[in-house]
Amino acid sequence: MLKREKSQAVFDRAMKVMSKGVSSNFRYWGRKKTPVLARGKGAKIWDADGNEFIDYRLGWGPIILGHADERVNQAVQEAIGRGTTFASTTEMEVSVAEKIVAMIPGMEMLRFTNTGTEATMHALRVARAYTNREKFIKFEGQYHGMHDYVLFSTASSPISAMGAYRSPVPVQVGSGIPRKIWEYVISIPFNDFEIVERAVKSHYGDIAAMLIEPVLGNIAGLEPSNGYLKHLRKLCDDYGIVMIFDEVKTGFRLANGGAREVFGVIPDISTYAKSLGNGYPVAAFGGKREVMDIIGPGSVSHGGTYGANGVSMAAANAVLDILAESPVLEEMAKRGQRLKLGMEEILNKAGIPHQMTGHPNMQGFLIIEKQAKEVRDLAHHDDNLYEAILKHLYEEGGVMAEPDAREPWFLCEAHTDGVIDETLNRFEDATIAALKKKS
Ligand SMILES: Cc1ncc(COP(=O)(O)O)c(C=O)c1O
Repeated sequence: MLKREKSQAVFDRAMKVMSKGVSSNFRYWGRKKTPVLARGKGAKIWDADGNEFIDYRLGWGPIILGHADERVNQAVQEAIGRGTTFASTTEMEVSVAEKIVAMIPGMEMLRFTNTGTEATMHALRVARAYTNREKFIKFEGQYHGMHDYVLFSTASSPISAMGAYRSPVPVQVGSGIPRKIWEYVISIPFNDFEIVERAVKSHYGDIAAMLIEPVLGNIAGLEPSNGYLKHLRKLCDDYGIVMIFDEVKTGFRLANGGAREVFGVIPDISTYAKSLGNGYPVAAFGGKREVMDIIGPGSVSHGGTYGANGVSMAAANAVLDILAESPVLEEMAKRGQRLKLGMEEILNKAGIPHQMTGHPNMQGFLIIEKQAKEVRDLAHHDDNLYEAILKHLYEEGGVMAEPDAREPWFLCEAHTDGVIDETLNRFEDATIAALKKKS
């Protein structure tokens, strides 16, 4: 059982001065359970009581190399000595943009921001300005950040509220979003060739953008069906719709060039954040010159005091150099595949019906008999057993992954073969213990 005295004391203080004691709703696990972290190094993290964990949450994806990576920290330390925020372009910023353009297929120009939320917000604005249209297609279960336009039918929305499969209803996530925004969102199930075609045809002339997580980074890492992204590309081409890939989770993680590279589909714009900075806050959106060129004073607004600040650029520069110099992501995928196969063997042995999901660098599993391909299929997933396994792993096994199957298991360069073996041993114990408890 975990020690919790110090964590609880800190969290009690947090509850007095911060809403629910956290800086993101997703971090709140309850009054007596919310973790309080102290430090991280490589693939490990320690909480305020000194409990040690192998980390598969990795800050929900940004840590691509490892916590407190010395190469990135060194670059950041050098940068802060030069000053960080100037309200002007810097040479470092230009170099980072050049490296991204060189690394990502079809990327021609971009702008920097600080969070994924900002990146998707600006990408949508650019798409609306470029097409002079207002609505956009959003896929159920996909998450694009915290601005009003995209808080509909996300991973957190109750499936039971999404309406009929053929005639879905956008479900607003929480209060505080102006009611009329609903009118701009066309939410539909992912991975259905026909439904998306019907939606495009019936809203012809109104749709500015199709906003797509090419791999469902917020639904267990589910992947697109064969040819699905190409189908979306063709629809966007045929109907003059700006295709936006939200690569906030997939970018600089699935491959150096992200999902664009893996699936060979080039969107008009894509958004990046997370792995680009290995934990430092940096984001970007960019794509075709013809589309991005519309941004400018008096034409389309984009700005931000901290955009391309010295810390974020130094971190991104170091990450991009490391990714360019050695096959970090390919090697990670081999270890990720070992983890995946190892967990599958354990689930098979335990007689638990399952589906292994996602890319090895951002994977998951569902406890399910029917194969899931989109969020509604999660109605058949056994949440209770999944949570029991993950709870045991966290409380007894020293392994921290999100206790909710929708959030993938993330790998980083510091997840060595030894760390994977250790995880598999503990996963086996947790699976056996959870099954015993259930029976
Ligand atoms: C696919 C996707 N897009 C956008 C975001 C929002 O990014 P941020 O939390 O940096 O605002 C997230 C965050 O998890 C995400 O998963």
